[in-house]
Amino acid sequence: MLDVVIIWDWLAFAVRWLHVITAIAWIGSSFYFIALDLGLRKVPHLPVGAHGEEWQVHGGGFYHIQKYLVAPENMPEHLTWFKWESYSTWLSGAALLMIVYWAGGELYLIDQHKADLTLWQGIAISAASLTIGWLVYDRLCKSGLAERPTLLMVLLFVLLVIMGWGYNQIFTGRAMMLHLGAFTATIMTANVFFIIIPNQKIVVADLQAGRTPDAKYGKIAKLRSLHNNYLTLPVIFLMLSNHYPLAFATQYNWIIAALVFLMGVTIRHYFNTMHARGGNPIWTWPATVLLFLAIIWLSIIGGPEQADYDAEEARAPTAFEAQFAQADGFEDVTDIVLGRCSMCHAREPGWDGIAHAPKNILLETPNEIARAAQQIYLQSGVSKAMPPANLSWMEPEERALIRDWYKRATDTAS
Ligand code: HEC
Repeated sequence: MLDVVIIWDWLAFAVRWLHVITAIAWIGSSFYFIALDLGLRKVPHLPVGAHGEEWQVHGGGFYHIQKYLVAPENMPEHLTWFKWESYSTWLSGAALLMIVYWAGGELYLIDQHKADLTLWQGIAISAASLTIGWLVYDRLCKSGLAERPTLLMVLLFVLLVIMGWGYNQIFTGRAMMLHLGAFTATIMTANVFFIIIPNQKIVVADLQAGRTPDAKYGKIAKLRSLHNNYLTLPVIFLMLSNHYPLAFATQYNWIIAALVFLMGVTIRHYFNTMHARGGNPIWTWPATVLLFLAIIWLSIIGGPEQADYDAEEARAPTAFEAQFAQADGFEDVTDIVLGRCSMCHAREPGWDGIAHAPKNILLETPNEIARAAQQIYLQSGVSKAMPPANLSWMEPEERALIRDWYKRATDTAS
């Protein structure tokens, strides 16, 4: 039977697929151009205005690429632009954010223990923070700081840490990491959309009009490009982090996120230096490993506490939870979930080999079970995804009870 929840879940899958594809295209072309740019050789007899060239071999042919620092003397007949890789990644990412964290805000975005927000307040903060963050960053870049790129980079890092901390004050750990990633990715795409491409267009227009383009446009674009270079790897970590509660569901998750940005720098620094044939800064690898060990340590010391459980048990259900808790059959479902799911989905899982509640889905209290209704329905009502390999012997009748309860709860709501 096809219902709205099932269609919605497939939509999420389709958009996620699209997002991963566009992100691969963007990051792939970005990595390619960074390496190309750093690897250019200055050889004799370059054409006028050319800065360097490189020979490459790939897929059965040889490529001969030359870079013009400001612009060639004349406008080339055909010009390939690289912008849709970035735009489509942001657009699909924004759609996914809305599907998962806005539409599913009751489960994934809002954390009642941190801030008593309504869904709409949470969504407003989510949207506003991404916009305001870009404005602050853009101001910084347009101030005199552009002349001091290292200081600018340090301030950008401070801004990211403040944002991570701030998100963690109000949102779930999972939403904190994802929003920090979305915040960073918004800066990156906005750099392409508002700065890099418009500057490139000015240069093209100058060429077409027979004017000599100003070198400053290229310089400004280059600074933004450099930021994007160092931000790429942390963004991927943050986007994938929702699979790893050990990273996001701990008290110090925002410090973990900060260290991830530093790891992005150490890893990129190694490859940037290698591609520029500037040596072999092998020290970056032990530095990266140390940062990663620090992350593991922070994750362990920030783990769940008994107080978290007590607070959850004492909490009154939200209106969203009440809708499911008051539907007929909730008591049966609670018994089923406590019997078949809670050994894994607990603050201290009792199942061998499970260190932390998988995906941080906690199913220990009635509130938690009610809140996760849609997930329970999808994972164990209409599919047999949970329990994995039916390890806890869930009966078909129990799945039917879950389906009926979910339908009743959502029917009365509509
Ligand atoms: C044996 C341990 C175990 C039991 C029992 C178990 N789960 Fe899970 N659950 C997992 C694991 C492991 C994952 C992560 C799966 C993955 O990463 O793809 C998971 C993931 C989930 C997710 C998140 C899925 C997602 O991709 O967002 C939900 C929801 C869930 N389980 C619900 C349930 C429900 C409901 C039950 C009981 C009917 C249950 N689980 C029983 C181990 C368990």
